[in-house]
Amino acid sequence: MSFDTTAHNRRMTYFDEHESVWLFGYGSLIWKADFDYLERRPASIRGWVRRFWQGSHDHRGTPEAPGRVVTLVADAGATCHGMAYRIPPRVFEPLDIREKNGYLRVVTDMTFEDGAADGVEQAEGVVYLAGEDNAAYLGPAEEAAIARQIAESHGPSGPNRDYLLNLAAALRELGFEDAHVFALERALLAE
Ligand code: BEZ
Repeated sequence: MSFDTTAHNRRMTYFDEHESVWLFGYGSLIWKADFDYLERRPASIRGWVRRFWQGSHDHRGTPEAPGRVVTLVADAGATCHGMAYRIPPRVFEPLDIREKNGYLRVVTDMTFEDGAADGVEQAEGVVYLAGEDNAAYLGPAEEAAIARQIAESHGPSGPNRDYLLNLAAALRELGFEDAHVFALERALLAE
């Protein structure tokens, strides 16, 4: 099962005339920045939580046995911590292909968390979001079941477990708490 969002994202022209755009990363973009960027800063967005509720049929699983990767779920009181990248808009072209399995580019406000000397603390930018109406969406499940699925899944980008362990390690290194991710990491390592 797949839901190729590339064409939809190509029509997202909101930032086309900008020299650079802030992209908020909350999943693999935190630890796998294999694209050109001008600067990066720890950042957060409000009103969202990170959840391993999106199926991965093309990176960390297969159409027959999907893995699980993160998306954002609306939660009015929550803050999601991640990494923001200032990118030239042309970088969306390869990213739209890399993240084509249900993710749409959405405009978001973000807050920088590094207290940088330039005094800029907020920006409008973009986040990739896979909503519950996309065909690859798996939704919630028991932690143990999610951890088991991640432990057993492999895809063209490698084992699903590496995705979870890399994300947990990156969040820890940045000093960010995420109860959902760390609980899944514990469950996976206890398998
Ligand atoms: C991210 O790391 O922000 C991200 C996660 C899933 C799809 C695209 C981007």
